[in-house]
Amino acid sequence: MKFAIYPGSFDPVTSGHLNVIRRAANIFDRLVVCVMVNAVKHPMFTLEERVDMIRRVTEDLPNVEVEYSDGLLAEYARSKGKCVIVKGLRAGSDFENEFQMALINHKINPDLDTMFLTAEHQYMYLSSSMVKELGSYDVDLSDFLPEAIIPDFKARIQTLRQGG
Ligand code: PNS
Repeated sequence: MKFAIYPGSFDPVTSGHLNVIRRAANIFDRLVVCVMVNAVKHPMFTLEERVDMIRRVTEDLPNVEVEYSDGLLAEYARSKGKCVIVKGLRAGSDFENEFQMALINHKINPDLDTMFLTAEHQYMYLSSSMVKELGSYDVDLSDFLPEAIIPDFKARIQTLRQGG
């Protein structure tokens, strides 16, 4: 069975992430999307909230599971058995960081390889950070976020604006 893990912070899951999930779900027999902690980011949503949003937008994909882990990716992957890491790769800016993470993960767990799916052109520029910045303004988000989670995102922006 071809089994992959797609890790990320997904804060929140964007249409670009969803595109990678759908394409990876077509390639692998089983795909686990794992919401993880990125030590340099300050999340807007809890791990559980992020899992819930991804589950809602992947309901139609029977071979996709969604989990979270606050541990090391290389160890999480080891606990799952034989698998590969799949990640999306956008324009040049992603490359160095992704290359470094892939090498470190392989160093910690030599059985673990990372494969990259290049972003489709309409998602090359898209990131959760950019969407969070746009969220402060009155911008149509339907090209950036899956429709089902736009209300969650707007509600969180509103709560944060009110100091919550
Ligand atoms: O979507 P992101 O923020 O680019 O994803 C990065 C993520 C969460 C996959 C990375 O920070 C990660 O693997 N976190 C888990 C802890 C870990 O293994 N850190 C070492 C990475 S080399």
